[in-house]
Amino acid sequence: MLIKANVRSSLELMPGTRLLWLDAPAIAAAAHPGQFLMIRCGEDHDPVLRRPLSIHRTNSSGGVALLFEVVGRGTRWLAERVPGDCVDVLGPLGNGFMVRDDARDVLLVAGGIGIAPLAFLAEKMTEEGKKRVILLHGARRGELLLPEGQLPGATTVVDLSEDGSRGRRCLATDVMDEYAGEADQVFACGPAAMYRAMAELECLKGKSVQVSLEERMACGLGACYVCTIRTTKGLKQVCRDGPVFELADILWER
Ligand code: FES
Repeated sequence: MLIKANVRSSLELMPGTRLLWLDAPAIAAAAHPGQFLMIRCGEDHDPVLRRPLSIHRTNSSGGVALLFEVVGRGTRWLAERVPGDCVDVLGPLGNGFMVRDDARDVLLVAGGIGIAPLAFLAEKMTEEGKKRVILLHGARRGELLLPEGQLPGATTVVDLSEDGSRGRRCLATDVMDEYAGEADQVFACGPAAMYRAMAELECLKGKSVQVSLEERMACGLGACYVCTIRTTKGLKQVCRDGPVFELADILWER
């Protein structure tokens, strides 16, 4: 759906990372963890292309949250919106994470801003109360991890930072074998380098591992083919067929 959503609140949650709540009841009601929105980040079609952003949270009062890094002109424009401003939003789009009913133990792996859709997934799973959820929550520096209290309380959170300033000093892939053993399903969102490393890990072999891909997008609707990737099942569009894929299906370009 294409809507105009009013900004409810906006704050810098971590350095260079913004949390924006929009008033969008229809999207909040329809959204599934792992789906995304295409946001027009400017006035008068400048910049021309919308920005794809993962849905970070929803709430029962019709709020939809986006968590995004301010990395260019479009996201800077979005970061400057204040309560009452209007944002042009298309979505929810794409296919999100698929959680099996029989999965009891679930491992989530977030690298950097990859926490955005995984927080939504963790919240949904712990709401149902049927799953044990462990979240490996990693970033380059401790200050880039979500602040305490911003993640669902019932989830076991393991903080990791590359500089050791918060939690364990390591990458998520360094400690995955400690946590993956019991997991019936694994869900990840982070940089491609993390996925490539995960694809080599013995502890994940034979497990269902779903990863959310970040590709450049233009239309977000499967029409322009800008986001095409190679998989064992043929060429796929990240926006329409994903952004969530089975890790074992992805054929990485060399
Ligand atoms: Fe156009 Fe995916 S962004 S096909």
